[in-house]
Formats: sequence, structure tokens, C-alpha cells
Amino acid sequence: MNVFDSPDFDHHEAVTFFDDVNTGLKAIIAIHSTALGPACGGTRMYPYITTDAALTDALRLSKGMSYKNAIADLPLGGGKACIIGNPATDKSDAKFAAYAEAINTLGGRYVTAMDVGILPPDMPVIARGTKFIAGYNQPGKAGGDSGPATALGVFGGLKAAVKHRLGVDTTKGLRVAIQGLGKVGMGVAKRLHSEGAKLIVADTDMFAVKEAVEKLGAVAATPDQIVTVECDVLSPNALGAILNDQSIARLHARVVAGGANNQLARDHHGAMLRDRDILYAPDYVINGGGIIRVAAQIENWSDAEVERRVCAIADTLTAIFVRAARDGEPTNVIADRMAVERMAEGKTRAPKAAE
Ligand code: NAI
Repeated sequence: MNVFDSPDFDHHEAVTFFDDVNTGLKAIIAIHSTALGPACGGTRMYPYITTDAALTDALRLSKGMSYKNAIADLPLGGGKACIIGNPATDKSDAKFAAYAEAINTLGGRYVTAMDVGILPPDMPVIARGTKFIAGYNQPGKAGGDSGPATALGVFGGLKAAVKHRLGVDTTKGLRVAIQGLGKVGMGVAKRLHSEGAKLIVADTDMFAVKEAVEKLGAVAATPDQIVTVECDVLSPNALGAILNDQSIARLHARVVAGGANNQLARDHHGAMLRDRDILYAPDYVINGGGIIRVAAQIENWSDAEVERRVCAIADTLTAIFVRAARDGEPTNVIADRMAVERMAEGKTRAPKAAE
């Protein structure tokens, strides 16, 4: 496929293909935008069947990172890397060294982090060969597990949505259905419980459900029931594409606010939620705590600065809700528009030089 003709090409600044014969590295690094700073986004390793499939992923995901970084008010642009290969069988130190060298050739215009297929132990191996890497445990630096920061941002964002849609300052007494009790979902559940919310939970991991029932007084639902259960707020913290033609018609919630990525099966499902008067907190805005944590390593921010920025997610969401209500537009459309505006503003300022 010709890159420029790809339906997912969005005037990306650069798309670079790397082929290292000695190690078998085949990678694509897509830089969507450096308007706000160096392009930052994770490396995905996946056994793509075709190069076109890897290219499509790199183009789409890098654009998504531009929007996510811009809306989180970070001094970072958007990029993404896709290594073509099976993460279970195709990793080697030599290949990661070649990959680090590939990143270096971009001179700091791309800073990598973790994504699907790249595990915490892989990161120090890549870091041996490049300084353009963040979002993993580094002694003496903020970072590491981003789950707690993401959970904090989701909790604050959920409260902002509740305030806007239901007009109350607290979740006390509200019924909140939580799908997924992992690093993010359990963190959100604990904060909600402390505030007095009534929890309905589901997870495929029965130990997590048991913990929430015993410690947080939650009521267990099955994974099939949770999305359409009777509640005030639905908080998806597990899977993507759960808001679709089938589920939206059957939702009972008045607010959807959770950390899971890619909750809308298609963009137009944002409009379906608006039409049903269900307030949707756009996923890439409310779950920005994770990328803020990554940015903290690049920018050497303190934990206090990270917390301040994570708490500001609620204000950004409120601005999105107010504008969406004023313009009669879905919240996901407004979020995208605000991200594009921030990038356009960044382009008019002097670009932040990479290290
Ligand atoms: P996790 O892997 O710790 O937790 C996911 C939980 O969902 C697990 O407990 C799993 O058993 C459960 N689950 C899987 N299938 C399910 C189903 N059908 N029904 C109910 N539960 C199911 O992952 P984590 O880190 O908590 O992330 C959750 C979501 O938030 C993911 O979509 C992730 O991409 C997104 N996210 C996470 C960030 C982070 O910092 N951890 C940052 C931004 C987004």
C-alpha cells in the first residue's frame, strides 16, 4: 500500500520503515505530529500477517497518541512504533539493540514507551541502546506502574461527569457498575467505596470479584450482565468496543466513565449515547493518567506535579461536557476537536526541540 494513499494517513510528519537483516528486525515508526513536542507513544510487537496491517496500526495509533497527549496538555506529540514479529518467540537482545538504534536515527523526534507485546523486562534492554525511552521502572525516577495514576484520573473524571449530568458533587449513594477489576478498575472501586457509592462489579477473574465483594461491599454481576445492568454510572475498565449498536440500546446508565481504551466500537456511537442522553466521558481523555505518568519520566516531574496534572483531567472533561451541551455535539467529537485545536496552537509556537 502506498502510505500517502492509505485511508489512515493523516498528514503524518514521518513514517519510517526499518529493516535490519542481521537481527531480523522489521519495524515501522510513525510520527503523526511533533507540534507540541517529541512524538511519544508505545512500541507494539505483534505478528502482523501483512506489512499493510502493521502500517495501518502505526498510522492509526500514532494519530491517537497525538490526540491523547494534546488533550492531557502534555508537551508531547504523537507517535507509535510497530515491530513485526511474535512477542513470544521473536525477541532477542540483538533485535532490541537494532530497534534502539532505529529510534536513535530519528534524533529524539520519537520517544518510545510500552505497548501490547512489549513487557517491563524488555524496556531496560531497549534502553541500553537509546535514551529516547520512558514509561517503565527507572530507579530514582517517577514512572513504573501507571495504574494508580490512571485510576485517580478516572475517579476524578467520573465525578466530573456525575456533577455535570446528575448535578451532585459526590458519588455517595449512586449505583456504579464496574467492568474489570484490574489495576485501574480496582483502584476506581476503592475510591468510590470510600466515598459511599454502591458498587456492582464483574470480572472474569473470580478472585478480584471476591475481593470487591468482601472488602468493598460490592454486588457481583456476571461479565455478560454488567454493561446493561441497572445503575447510575457505568465504568468500563476492561475491554474495548463495549459501546456498540447492541449494548447502547440496552444501557441503563446515565453516565459512562471508565478507563478502558477504545470503548466506542465506532465513532458514531458517541452520537448514539448523546441521543439517549447518556453522558460519555471520552476514554482517551479520562484515562490520561497513564500517559501523564510516562511524560513525568521524560520531563522529570515530581509526584506532586503528576497528581496535579492527573486531577486536571476532570477540568478538561468538564470543559468538553459544557461545550458538547452548548453545541449539541457528542462528547467524543468535541474532545477530538479540542485536541486538534491544541495541536494547531502548538504549531504556531516555536516547536520544542527534542533532546
Ligand atoms: P488489567 O489487565 O490490570 O485489568 C483488566 C481487568 O479486566 C482484569 O482484571 C481482567 O480479568 C478483566 N477482564 C477481562 N475481560 C473481562 C470481561 N469480559 N469482563 C469483565 N472483566 C474482564 O488492566 P488495567 O491496567 O487495569 O487496564 C484496564 C483498561 O484500562 C484497559 O483497557 C487498558 O488499556 C486501559 N488503560 C490502562 C492504563 C493503565 O495505566 N493501566 C492507562 C490507560 C488505559
